[in-house]
Amino acid sequence: MEQFQDFSLFHGDSMEVLANIEEKVDMIFADPPYFLSSGNGTVKINGRYINFDKGKWDRQRSKEEIYEFNKHWLSLCRECLKDSGTIWVCGTYHNIFEVVECLKDLGFKILNMIVWQKSDPPKTLTDQRFNFSAEYIIWARKCEKVPHFFNYELMEHMNNGIHMPDVWKLPAPCHWEKTCGKHPTQKPLRLLYRIILATTHEGDTILDPFAGSCTTGIAANLLGRKFIGIDQDEKYLQLGMRRREEIYNPDVAQKIFERMSENPEEVQVIVNHARPELLKLMIEKGICYLRAGDSKGSVLVTPGFERTGYVLLHSGGQDCHLFKLKRKGCFQIWTKESLEEQGFHPEHASYYQVFHFDNSKEIPFSREPRLLQGLNTYRSKIRPLSDFIGIR
Ligand SMILES: C[S@@+](CC[C@H](N)C(=O)[O-])C[C@H]1O[C@@H](n2cnc3c(N)ncnc32)[C@H](O)[C@@H]1O
Repeated sequence: MEQFQDFSLFHGDSMEVLANIEEKVDMIFADPPYFLSSGNGTVKINGRYINFDKGKWDRQRSKEEIYEFNKHWLSLCRECLKDSGTIWVCGTYHNIFEVVECLKDLGFKILNMIVWQKSDPPKTLTDQRFNFSAEYIIWARKCEKVPHFFNYELMEHMNNGIHMPDVWKLPAPCHWEKTCGKHPTQKPLRLLYRIILATTHEGDTILDPFAGSCTTGIAANLLGRKFIGIDQDEKYLQLGMRRREEIYNPDVAQKIFERMSENPEEVQVIVNHARPELLKLMIEKGICYLRAGDSKGSVLVTPGFERTGYVLLHSGGQDCHLFKLKRKGCFQIWTKESLEEQGFHPEHASYYQVFHFDNSKEIPFSREPRLLQGLNTYRSKIRPLSDFIGIR
């Protein structure tokens, strides 16, 4: 197939193609068939027939056949992987136990089983079970004794200073990931973004033996990694190539990068302007206050407010200070008089939202806050923490 330098696609059965790949890669991400489709996946919902069959490649097989299939491609992948390399394999209960068994039988060391908790799961078509809302991704290293790469600091940073857990709440692929066409089992770029940042360096090579629409390749290239993808269905590889061509345009690449790097669970920052004297007093007291709502005094608490963990104080975009709230997602309602008792002179309302922050430890910035951009510099805003302490 046509190639970009950092994006190589191979059309064919992975069992054959993998055997001919000479390059040793740093990481493998594999989203193999889960063997979910019964071949008769049409269901009538609200008068409409919906086809749940993913294709022939996903048809149900016996436990033994699933084991043999997985053992075959996993052993070929092992040959392509550097000794320090790691592999990620996706699944559900339909295939994941056989995958783990094969990995262990082949000498891989299991490192984690990530639970991808879907924040917006589709409704399961039965009332006889719980709603399916998760997929599992096994992470294993090739050799028991050879150390692997894990970017602990970056993951901790992306998780707001706490060791990143193995349960990740992320949405399914969104419309902005499907502008070039659809794959029935497309993975979200946000998932690959985290996996690639956690386990590879810039310039590394990533292989995906079941590439589909090449989500792995798009995330890899946007993060400066090289990609090798294999799929037996040419139409999916063509979709992958269209996605690659789409990010050849730097403006489109930038937009997709920004969305891919958004973390829907990220801690938020209250960004508040105050006159220089007031700013000084707020820092001295460890108190930031905002007028509680509009002139009628109502408080509007928007979804996501519970993720507010920091306050950034500034004076007209200058003299910026970032602090951690004493209790994430919490504020008190104070009267004007209560604030006056603390030495403040609020003038605009009877009630205020009060945030207590840890004034003993200012948080250093690693990104320019750019508070003068936009019209609403003087209004309080909620922005993600990564706007101020960047991850790159
Ligand atoms: C679960 S999908 C991968 C979707 C992909 N992660 C994405 O985001 O678009 C599995 C893909 O593997 C391909 N496939 C299945 N069996 C294969 C085989 N033996 N060799 C190569 N490709 C295969 C299918 O055509 C399908 O596109």
